[in-house]
Amino acid sequence: MSRTVYLNGEYLPESEAKVSIFDRGFLFADGVYEVTSVLGGKLLDFDGHATRLARSLNELEMTNPITKEDLLEVHRELVRRNGIDDGLIYLQITRGAADRDFAYPVEGTPATIVLFTQAKTGLADNPLAKTGIKVIGIEDLRWGRRDIKTVQLLYPSMGKMMAKAAGVHDAWMIEDGHITEGTSNNAYIVTDGKIVTRHLGHEILHGITRAAVLRFARESQMEVEERAFTVDEVKAADEAFITSASMFVMPVVEFDGIAIGTGAVGPVATRLREIYIEESRNSAV
Ligand code: PDD
Repeated sequence: MSRTVYLNGEYLPESEAKVSIFDRGFLFADGVYEVTSVLGGKLLDFDGHATRLARSLNELEMTNPITKEDLLEVHRELVRRNGIDDGLIYLQITRGAADRDFAYPVEGTPATIVLFTQAKTGLADNPLAKTGIKVIGIEDLRWGRRDIKTVQLLYPSMGKMMAKAAGVHDAWMIEDGHITEGTSNNAYIVTDGKIVTRHLGHEILHGITRAAVLRFARESQMEVEERAFTVDEVKAADEAFITSASMFVMPVVEFDGIAIGTGAVGPVATRLREIYIEESRNSAV
């Protein structure tokens, strides 16, 4: 079955949705994106994603082509039209089409806005949550504004391929001996009951799942420390995990071939995953 997608105000069969070869997203990776998860036909943390989208656009001096209310309606309509129960909604906004020039096009050039769905049956029952995932460490070679959610994802793609070649699930990126984040997720360790994750700044994406998970952790009286942590700390940690809109909370049981803690999924990651999924379902819109 062909999906219905959204392009610049229209709902179209995916085969009919066409974007110009001059689109700056295509030529310059001049665009931003969001991935919002859907559980039981409802959107998780829509507000957080819409707010981060507005921030990304603002940081790049791009005009937001859609109001939050209209964006919510487009998300819901795509869920309806595609019969999504569990899955993801991908949204991308680029600076639009213009003759190739490094300078931004003249004001008033219409942005390109695209949304499509990905059905993921059993998104919240990922069997990997029972075994945990393995990661390797790789150098973080991305640009200096990782807090802006741009579509320049070549290095994260390369990182996933390096992980695949090493026979593991993902890679954590390292800068000056400290972990920044995973290729498409935020990274955490747990040591002596304390949850440690990198502080916000230009070096990492400000994960929407991260914000929710840290809030739930604090509400559950767990200790949280937001600071950079080293590779040695990962190897000596009791537990590790990642968070993202598509993985929720996912335990990490091995780093560079070394078992983390007992090498099995730990209680903190397990508990946070349960809380996150339950609370997110309850507040889904
Ligand atoms: N990735 N860090 C990076 C580099 C990411 O690409 C992502 C999300 C995150 C987690 O952010 P959030 O909790 O808001 O999903 C952190 C999405 C899921 C993706 O590219 O598919």
